[in-house]
Order: sequence, then C-alpha cells, then structure tokens
Amino acid sequence: MMNLEEYVNYLADKHGRNRESLLPILQGIVEKERYLSDVAMIEVAKQLDVSAADVYGTASFYSFLDTVPRGENVIRVCKTITCDMHGKKQIVKAIEDTLKIKVGETTQDKKFSLLTTNCLGWCHKGPVMLINSTPYTELTPDKAREILAEYIRK
Ligand code: FES
Repeated sequence: MMNLEEYVNYLADKHGRNRESLLPILQGIVEKERYLSDVAMIEVAKQLDVSAADVYGTASFYSFLDTVPRGENVIRVCKTITCDMHGKKQIVKAIEDTLKIKVGETTQDKKFSLLTTNCLGWCHKGPVMLINSTPYTELTPDKAREILAEYIRK
C-alpha cells in the first residue's frame, strides 16, 4: 500500500507536474480516498510546486470539494456554456428522473450522487459528464440513461 505522499508522487509521475495535471491528479486521489482531504491538497501543492490556494481553487471549480458524504458513484455534469447550449439541461433531467434525485443529492441506497461541474475540457464533444473519473461525451438523454443502467446493474 502506498502512503498518501507516494500516491501523489505516483499520480504526478503519471500525469505530469503542471497546472493541466491538477484535475487528473485530484481525480486520482478522489478515486482512491473517496474524497479530497486538506492533507491531500497540501501534498499536491507541494509536489506540483503550486500554492495550496491554487489546488483548492481547482478542486472547488470542478466540485471536488465534498463537504457531505457522497454516493459510491459521483456523476458530474458539465454546466458550462458549450455543454449548456448542447442540451445539458435535458441530460440533467434524464438523470434526475432515472435516479429520482435532484442535483446535489444522493440516492437513498448511497449508490449515486449527482453534481454539476465547470468545463471539463471536452467542449467539442459536449454535452459531457464524468462518472467518477470516466468522461462520457456527446450525450443524449437516451445515451445518459443507458450509461446509468450499466452502473445500476453493477
Ligand atoms: Fe462542457 Fe467544456 S463546456 S466540457
């Protein structure tokens, strides 16, 4: 088992040590630890040689700062302009109807949480959502429902 410092180092080796690496690194941490602690953010700041405020800013921009326990699968739908123009609202609605929760909520069985996030860098293929750290692009309401069905079956 790697400790936190080693794990951040491993992620930084894999994704690089620049600003663009911040998101994949934060995703990697959330995947393993299930949330992003202050200690983890400070470790990332140290290893990437950026300020803790930068790390915090990025984490909150992408709604990775979980203040309440999230479900096993966290869905983040991009709410930024390009995805918005390509039908993000219908995607959110399809997910809300399927899971019977609203944005910001977690299903009763704790299997899913639904959040929105800022631009994920896939604008040319919007609308986009992340489930945990997997991006799903060019969504339609039907496609979103099919993807969810796979996770529900798991
Ligand atoms: Fe949604 Fe950029 S606007 S990914």
